Amino acid sequence: MAKYLITGAAGFIGSSLVRALLGRGEQVRGVDNFATGKRENLTEVLHQMDFREADILDLDAMRSACEGVDYVLHEAAIPSVPKSVIDPLGSNRANVDGTVNVLVAARDAKVKRVVYAASSSAYGDTPTLPKQEAMPPNPISPYAVAKLASEFYMVSFYRCYGLETVCLRYFNIFGPRQDPSSPYSGVLAKFSLQMLRGEQPTIFGDGETSRDFTFIDNAVSANLLACSAPGAECAGRVFNCATGRRITLNQTFDAMKELTGYKGTVKYAPERSGDIKHSLADISRAEKHIGYKVLVNFEEGLRRTVEWYKRQAQPVEA
Ligand code: UD1
Repeated sequence: MAKYLITGAAGFIGSSLVRALLGRGEQVRGVDNFATGKRENLTEVLHQMDFREADILDLDAMRSACEGVDYVLHEAAIPSVPKSVIDPLGSNRANVDGTVNVLVAARDAKVKRVVYAASSSAYGDTPTLPKQEAMPPNPISPYAVAKLASEFYMVSFYRCYGLETVCLRYFNIFGPRQDPSSPYSGVLAKFSLQMLRGEQPTIFGDGETSRDFTFIDNAVSANLLACSAPGAECAGRVFNCATGRRITLNQTFDAMKELTGYKGTVKYAPERSGDIKHSLADISRAEKHIGYKVLVNFEEGLRRTVEWYKRQAQPVEA
């Protein structure tokens, strides 16, 4: 049994990792400052873990959180492109300064490995598809720059201090517990809630924008593999975490109409600033070096996601 620290444990991805690790009988410690995470995401598992309300910007709290820990899964972030365009300083503090704190604390506590929630936004709008890790990054938004800077810090801590770090470049992760209610929410969570309520969703752009939408179970599995793979295969390296398939927003809307029973139309609005047009991953590096496989495809993931939001909308029976 190993001990894991999950930063951002009350967030969508963090809380999914908590459940997966507890399910495997691992010891789990979690930190979250509830900036974007929610206590409800941990309700039924809180008693099985060591949860601490703390900010990754608090170095002392991070030092204490890293004590006795084998693996750190660093998910805490302000995960939004548009929010970073409005508030680049806030994005930089949480997404860069916070990461350096976690790394310093992990290094000094002699943690075995840190796995980092990096972002596909690092690739930016380079026309080449699919995106391969060896391609030069070309970040557009302050969010993308911050996530990429943290990636470089991860690699740097491996090179300078020998702390094993692995970066997983997430491509549009979606699934149950993703927050649908903020203007900065991921598109699939937002559409699920809106369409189930019969509200008209908005597509920014012409709808031909595409993404490699990746169901959460795939990201959870990538994290577990990134912890268990031999250091020679993965330490100090960056891996795409995706499915290798891209879906347009128009296709997404059509698929969600069937699943939600929404009868209306979609509204089209101008593209968002900082957005990229297409995103698609080459996942062969992760397959080769950490044994990654796509476990759940887009259609099945979307079905499970919409089912979950449907259940949330139902009143609890007395
Ligand atoms: C980006 C990053 C991703 C990061 C995420 C954090 C890329 C390729 N990906 O995702 O790594 O984790 O930010 O927020 O840069 N949209 C609509 N209607 C809506 C909401 C969104 O049409 O109501 C559109 C957006 O304009 C965008 C697409 O849907 O074109 C996906 O948006 P979103 O789910 O916010 O994620 P990304 O910005 O792609």
